[in-house]
Amino acid sequence: MQSPLLPHMDAIRARFAHVDSCPFEGPRVFFENAGGALRLKSVIETSAAYAGYPDNQGRDNPASRALMAAIAKGKADARVFLNAPDGEVFVGESGTEVLFRLVRTAALGAAPGGVMLGSTLEHPASRSAMARWAAVTGRPHVLVAHDDATGTVSPEAYAEQITPDLRLATIVQTSPVTGMAVDVARIAAMIRDAAPSCLIVVDGIQHASHGQIDIAGLGIDGYAVSPYKVFSRHGYGLGWASERLTAFAKEAVIGGSPRAWELGTRDAGAYATFSDVVAYFDWLGGVTGGGASPRARIEAAAAAIHAHEAALMGAILHGLGNRRGLADMPGVTLIGGTGAGREGVVSFTLATMPAADLVAHLNARGIRTHIRLNDHYCGNILGPLGLDACVRASICHYNTPEEAGRFLDAMEEALA
Ligand SMILES: Cc1ncc(COP(=O)(O)O)c(C=O)c1O
Repeated sequence: MQSPLLPHMDAIRARFAHVDSCPFEGPRVFFENAGGALRLKSVIETSAAYAGYPDNQGRDNPASRALMAAIAKGKADARVFLNAPDGEVFVGESGTEVLFRLVRTAALGAAPGGVMLGSTLEHPASRSAMARWAAVTGRPHVLVAHDDATGTVSPEAYAEQITPDLRLATIVQTSPVTGMAVDVARIAAMIRDAAPSCLIVVDGIQHASHGQIDIAGLGIDGYAVSPYKVFSRHGYGLGWASERLTAFAKEAVIGGSPRAWELGTRDAGAYATFSDVVAYFDWLGGVTGGGASPRARIEAAAAAIHAHEAALMGAILHGLGNRRGLADMPGVTLIGGTGAGREGVVSFTLATMPAADLVAHLNARGIRTHIRLNDHYCGNILGPLGLDACVRASICHYNTPEEAGRFLDAMEEALA
């Protein structure tokens, strides 16, 4: 397998905790990255340090000034990572909560009437927020249908529903179930052409660890990231809002800044751990391609990550050395097929073994995957396919060809 990251794999893996062994279970291959990526060791150290600081922000002492500097640095680093020079970066309770906050603010601030547009590919976080605030504001919530065969939603499918009266649109950048990416830039451009005042909110939560984020290039109004899916930790979500969305009325403490998206005392440690994430991308870009600025190095890292993950996913789907891949295994059905646009995730069924048993079989062989059920999280994808469940294997750039080989061997055993 060819990948620009292979020569650096030891150095990359050394930066993450619990890379090849679970603290509860022992040695394992971690193919559950879509549920939450491995944590950077720097994030763990930073979290512990900040948890210990008793001081609050806004005081005249060195500790308080250091906490406020960490918040300012976290926001500035996030801007570079997201390529978002304007608007506001903020931290919320989770990715879901950030999406609700963006959608709520946009739905209440947009001109009355009109339509709210999303798609059936979306995670329930954005779909539920849109459904609720469409109902509250008396607007129809129109859903563009995704394509079962390709596992994505196309710009052409969106085009049929794009009308000048759109007030708010949501787009998921990568499906957490099919693993397929969406052409956000084209869909956003089509929406802006037809309805320039339509607010566009993007769920980048599943995309963030796999590739480049370029908010300035997308022409959107809101973006959500879940830091625990991009090498940080649980406990916060990261949001970005455009200038025009930031100008809308929001929940605010009386007398506070009208630009503020955040309520109450900040967790400076959350921002400091996001700085750790950005520093990691910067380091990775430096060793893989370089670049004169942090943004250039982040883009170099994203390109190398993309190349590594494409090669690793190619091996999982189409074979590695003399091992065959999932696509060639009799009885295996891949959700979304083998077309372009897969970002680190493959969900599949095996005709001869229920998904729960296959997850247990893989677990017993030290391969951590996850079952996805036809429930309120994944029913939008599995229901139309007539499936009760599937297995999701999800990789990241720190996973190795050797780990992919172990996964394929365990799958062969399941077939046998
Ligand atoms: C695409 C997508 N959106 C939203 C979420 C929800 O994120 P959080 O767990 O941070 O609320 C997830 C979580 O899996 C996701 O994959």
